[in-house]
Amino acid sequence: MRVAVAVSGRGSNLEALFERLGNGDDARVVLVISDRAEAPALDRARERGVAAMALQDWRSAEEWLAALTAESVDLLVLAGYLKLVPAEVIARYRGRIINVHPALLPSFGGKGMYGIRVHEAVLQSGAVESGCTVHLVEEEYDRGMILVQARVPVLPGDTAQVLASRVLEQEHRLLPAVVLAAARAGHPVVIEPSPASR
Ligand code: GRF
Repeated sequence: MRVAVAVSGRGSNLEALFERLGNGDDARVVLVISDRAEAPALDRARERGVAAMALQDWRSAEEWLAALTAESVDLLVLAGYLKLVPAEVIARYRGRIINVHPALLPSFGGKGMYGIRVHEAVLQSGAVESGCTVHLVEEEYDRGMILVQARVPVLPGDTAQVLASRVLEQEHRLLPAVVLAAARAGHPVVIEPSPASR
C-alpha cells in the first residue's frame, strides 16, 4: 500500500511510521507533504530518501491531487497536519484518509483544538483519563468514523506537557497499527486496541 503522510511540524508520528513499516512489504511511505516548508518532519523524510514536498498553497485541491496522483497514493495519513484538507481531495480519497488526534474524540476535538491546547483543556476539565484517536477524515475537523482509541490515565500533578507525552506514546503505537491493518484489508478498518491501550 502506497502511503502519503501530511505533516505540519516535528514528525514523531511520521518517524514511528517509518520505524514500524520497516522495509515496506505491506505498506510504504512514498510521499511526505507539508503546508510548511520549514517543518522538521520534511527533513526526516529526506534523510530516508522519501519524496518530501511543501505545498505552495495548502488550499489548492489541484496541487494536492497532482502530488498524490504522481505517487499513485492509496492512503493519505494526517500526522500532525493542522490545516483542513481541501474538500475535493477528501471526496476523491473518501474512506482512504486517516488522522491521529491526541484526545478521546468526540471530546476535545474540532477547530482550534490541536497541540498542547488539547491537553490543557483536558486538565482544565478535571477528566481522569485521556488518550488518542485514529479516525477517518471527513470535511469537518475530527468528525469522521473512529477506527481505534487508546486510553491513558490523567495523574495528579500532570502538566500539559507530561500528559502530551503519555498520549504521544500511544499515538506512535496506534497509527502504524491502523496503517498496517489498512494494508491488509485494502482500506482503513476499525481495529481492536491492543490490551496495553484499553
Ligand atoms: C500529535 O500529538 C498529533 O496527535 C497531533 O499533533 C501532534 C503531532 O506530533 N495532531 P508529531 O509532529 O507527529 O510529533
